[in-house]
Amino acid sequence: MLPHLKVRRSLALASAVMALSLPALVLAAPSAASIQRADIKLPIQNYIGAFGGPAGVKALINTFVGYVAADPHINYYFAHTNIKALKYNLTQQVCEIVGGPCTYTGPTMTAAHQNLQVTTAAFNYLAQDMIKAMDKRGIAKPAQNYLLEQLAAMEPQVVTANGPLG
Ligand code: HEM
Repeated sequence: MLPHLKVRRSLALASAVMALSLPALVLAAPSAASIQRADIKLPIQNYIGAFGGPAGVKALINTFVGYVAADPHINYYFAHTNIKALKYNLTQQVCEIVGGPCTYTGPTMTAAHQNLQVTTAAFNYLAQDMIKAMDKRGIAKPAQNYLLEQLAAMEPQVVTANGPLG
């Protein structure tokens, strides 16, 4: 790989990690509505318009799953996954998280990932693919940061393969 490409890739990863770990990047303040679910406990805000409604979320998930499938860092995790079911559940989940009129009915994040040995690095590559997909779909940065914060809140349920230092 050419040196400048290497730098660009690690910069992109660094920005994904920062987006996940720096609350300051999340521009919108929590609002009144707060719902309690097994895995997502942050206040829900309404960004469904910024995502293009439920149809926009569905298109985003299609793009995202395409990027994950093409990502050699993490695609092997999904070798035995029912992709149609994954897309459906992710669409419902993300639509609900961003305040849309959808209901997620899939497994808890703990149940879905408990046997997968997901690492922090894998989590961050997946987040990077989501950022790439949101950029591709033209989703505004405040809405992107909101979704990334919600996903980051699920990391403890998803990542099971690291010690305290990752
Ligand atoms: C916050 C981040 C994540 C969210 C919101 C999420 C969401 C989901 C959901 C909703 C399902 C259930 C799909 C179904 O049963 O149809 C699922 C399953 C799965 N997830 Fe994640 N996931 C996340 C991170 C990851 C990461 C980082 C990996 C690995 C790189 C991963 C790998 C998988 C795999 C392989 C399955 C399928 C398990 C199976 O076939 O039973 N996930 N995820």
